[in-house]
Amino acid sequence: MHIVRTIPDLRAALAARPGRPAFVPTMGNLHDGHIALVAQAKPLGDTLVASIFVNRLQFLPHEDFDSYPRTWDADCDRLEAAGCDIVFAPREGDLYPEPQTFKIQPDPQLADILEGHFRPGFFTGVCTVVMKLFSAVFFAAGGGTAVFGKKDYQQLMVIRRMVQQFALPVDIVAGDTARAADGLALSSRNGYLSAEERAAAVQLSQALRALAQAALAPGAAPLATLEQLALEQLAQQGWAPDYLTVRQRGDLQVPQGAASAGALVALGAARLGGTRLIDNLEF
Ligand code: PAF
Repeated sequence: MHIVRTIPDLRAALAARPGRPAFVPTMGNLHDGHIALVAQAKPLGDTLVASIFVNRLQFLPHEDFDSYPRTWDADCDRLEAAGCDIVFAPREGDLYPEPQTFKIQPDPQLADILEGHFRPGFFTGVCTVVMKLFSAVFFAAGGGTAVFGKKDYQQLMVIRRMVQQFALPVDIVAGDTARAADGLALSSRNGYLSAEERAAAVQLSQALRALAQAALAPGAAPLATLEQLALEQLAQQGWAPDYLTVRQRGDLQVPQGAASAGALVALGAARLGGTRLIDNLEF
């Protein structure tokens, strides 16, 4: 497995290999969910590239950029075992040698709601780094495939829109969310939970499942009422919820008319102690 730090070195490593890359961008601290995305990406290209970069641009000043877990040696071992060909792990100065003053401003209708509402600027930071990573990984090869997890559902939709609007030659493939045995979505931030919080953490996915079931029940109350109930119940369990909501899958807008199965997604974000978790459920 080849480890490269700079964009020119990545381009040189890719130029030495024929065909198109398959790419999995990450912020490291890899868990089974990431490795499943890597395994999914493996047959989708000729060279498998994973990136590890904790992107300061997508963190607010009070967020966990400094404490975000960095587990370099373990990450490399896992990527090598998963068949990764190239790890692109730029230092901050390699990706941002000067302040990144040109940025990708995503469609506010899609990016200023939900996560973007509670983490202003988050998707600008994500889109900007993903565009730069795509430039580094794909432009020489003329395109390829990138795999993004459904765990970050809104991120996946925002990236899909960006690729479509800029006509980027990149196929975006969605990877299913990996879950622990009790149903908790795997996330690097699960590592912040105490044992007691970890035991309670599954309540977020349970709340989303209950919300989806309630939305589909015959004669269901309006979605806004069901969402309010779900928020109150999670708060009673000791969480500080940001949102629990049912949206249309593609554009994440509020569904019009009665909810019908197959086109919807329940999304939630809530804080348990000091840890903010997100999850979602297509239904
Ligand atoms: O999902 C993530 O880990 C990050 O948002 C990404 C896509 C690697 C961009 O920094």
